Amino acid sequence: MVKRSKSSDRWLQRQRKDYFVRRAQDGGQISRAHFKLEQIDQRFRLVKPHQRVLELGAAPGGWTHYLEGKLQGGLLIAVDPLPITASQDIYLIEGLAGDVQVDEEINTILDGQQLDLVLSDMAPNISGVRTVDQARAMDLADLSLESCHRWLKTGGAMTIKAFQGEGLDHWVGALRKQFAKVLVTKPKASRSESREVFVVAQGFRA
Ligand SMILES: C[S@@+](CC[C@H](N)C(=O)[O-])C[C@H]1O[C@@H](n2cnc3c(N)ncnc32)[C@H](O)[C@@H]1O
Repeated sequence: MVKRSKSSDRWLQRQRKDYFVRRAQDGGQISRAHFKLEQIDQRFRLVKPHQRVLELGAAPGGWTHYLEGKLQGGLLIAVDPLPITASQDIYLIEGLAGDVQVDEEINTILDGQQLDLVLSDMAPNISGVRTVDQARAMDLADLSLESCHRWLKTGGAMTIKAFQGEGLDHWVGALRKQFAKVLVTKPKASRSESREVFVVAQGFRA
């Protein structure tokens, strides 16, 4: 018999009780993360048919699945070192955001075109040391912003996962100089005990 640790038992119990986990299972969504993007999109109207979208941290594919449904023939590039479940119409890049090879692949796919939207649900491997994890999360936020500077069109939008903690307020303040409208939001599908929030930035000043 496989022995589970107390923390994995707790995780399993939480998953079984979680309303959005059950909704994802019943509705055929790939992950409960699907509902986070859905709720953000319902509020901010970010995703529109025929857009060009870059999705960073896409595995296992909950957001990708949501985007596929909404883009209707747009262009979607999904990046993650882990496997992403998606249809054949999506450009899947297996690798880390910010790697030279990944950037080259994105350049090749875009072929000089610009993006309408940059999304990131990237999360660092959690070490348990709060300051270390927060610094890693802020590095990922920087990577998303770099992608905007490379490929996002003027007027485009970005939404990224971030964690409440040191550096975030300052980072958001700096973002306000680069986007016309910036808001920090926590969708209902994001667990209340988690420090996770989403930064939604619209009206990029390229
Ligand atoms: C919370 S999960 C994403 C869930 C996904 N949005 C969904 O809906 O299924 C976070 C992901 O970020 C990825 N990740 C972390 N660092 C990354 C990086 N530098 N580049 C790309 N993906 C990264 C992890 O591999 C992990 O799959």
